[in-house]
Amino acid sequence: MTFALTETQEMIRTTARSFAEEQLAPGAIERDEHSTFPAEQVRAMAELGFMGMMVPEEWGGAGLDTVSYALAEAEISRVDASCGVIMSVNNSLVCYGLNEFGTPAQKNAFLKDLASGRKLGAFALSEPEAGSDASNLHTLAQKDGDHYILNGTKNWTTNGSTADLVLVMASTDRSKGPKGISTFIVPKGTPGFTVAKKEKKLGIRASDTVSLSFTDCRIPAANRIGEEGAGFRFAMKTLDGGRIGIAAQALGIAQASLDASLSYAKERKAFGRPIAELQGIQFKIAEMATQVEAARHLVLKAAWLKDSGEPYGTAAAMAKLFASRVAVESALEAIQIHGGYGYVQEYRVERYLRDAKVTEIYEGTSEIQRIVIARSLLR
Ligand code: CAA
Repeated sequence: MTFALTETQEMIRTTARSFAEEQLAPGAIERDEHSTFPAEQVRAMAELGFMGMMVPEEWGGAGLDTVSYALAEAEISRVDASCGVIMSVNNSLVCYGLNEFGTPAQKNAFLKDLASGRKLGAFALSEPEAGSDASNLHTLAQKDGDHYILNGTKNWTTNGSTADLVLVMASTDRSKGPKGISTFIVPKGTPGFTVAKKEKKLGIRASDTVSLSFTDCRIPAANRIGEEGAGFRFAMKTLDGGRIGIAAQALGIAQASLDASLSYAKERKAFGRPIAELQGIQFKIAEMATQVEAARHLVLKAAWLKDSGEPYGTAAAMAKLFASRVAVESALEAIQIHGGYGYVQEYRVERYLRDAKVTEIYEGTSEIQRIVIARSLLR
């Protein structure tokens, strides 16, 4: 057993950290304030190979492992969690899904551009009446010769209005429940596919979250991923890996809260000395650092299991459940340590709290992670 990173993993981590500090930190507050999509920053992440990290090089990716991806995801999110979620969705939902379950023709047509970052992808599972209850889909895909006709609405789609294509889960037969669901590749510009509403959010404001509408949207049957009826399994398997990405995003936000608290505590004086010398502050920092370290171990363990070809769904759910809670609690403590300064925009930690909260919600709420964990233990 070893806790050491390989040379490549260490290099990815360092590259991601310096890139994030040099190129994402400037403007992060303004992008958040104005909900500005970080198009230029996403292009720069693509140049570093961060948009298709686990995809083999032959399909346009960086050919790296999940541990490297989790390390990079955490470093990007430590500085700008909006960039973190854009990266996470493209890598672990869209590229992973296509690479794992797509045909060579689909990979050729779509994966190469997505993994290289020339194009951006989105993943549309949730609906107004199907969030946690993900198999209760009302979006219908009706077979019509060698096409399907899609009708319905999707909610909370990250990258939804900026994406060049969306992986859409829809039901071909509602009476079959989860077994009636299929996944379709829907390119932007397909007639009948429109962006319905851009959400105004508490956090990760620079990322783009929208609802999508499909009205008599004709999709070639060749754009279906896997067999008809395999779409729910596709979504669940893809989300198992996606949860490692979101756990890493949460870890990054928690680390940011810890780092900000450490430097502020050393600078800020009260009662004639830096507040870092006060035991009340030291206890908070020690607790936060221990939680962050534990989260890191869970995240990297889940990533390592995936790389080792072992089952990783439960480990991913545990990592996400724990790291997201640590992110929220660390951000709250960071605000407390900063006092009034923690409550204002300039000191960044208020953004960490707003960004952290969604990690307990998307890609399966904390309650869903508990269900996934408990079911696997009781099986
Ligand atoms: N891998 C493979 N197959 C799986 C699976 C997994 N991880 N989980 C379930 N399945 C299979 C089951 O084996 C079952 O098939 P069989 O009948 O053949 O055994 C089938 O799928 C149905 O499974 P369940 O009976 O367990 O289904 P359920 O209705 O009880 O739901 C759930 C299970 C875990 C609650 C699931 O609905 C779930 O994960 N909900 C949360 C959805 C979610 O995470 N949404 C996130 C949206 S995407 C997003 O947020 C992205 C973004 O933009 C940031």
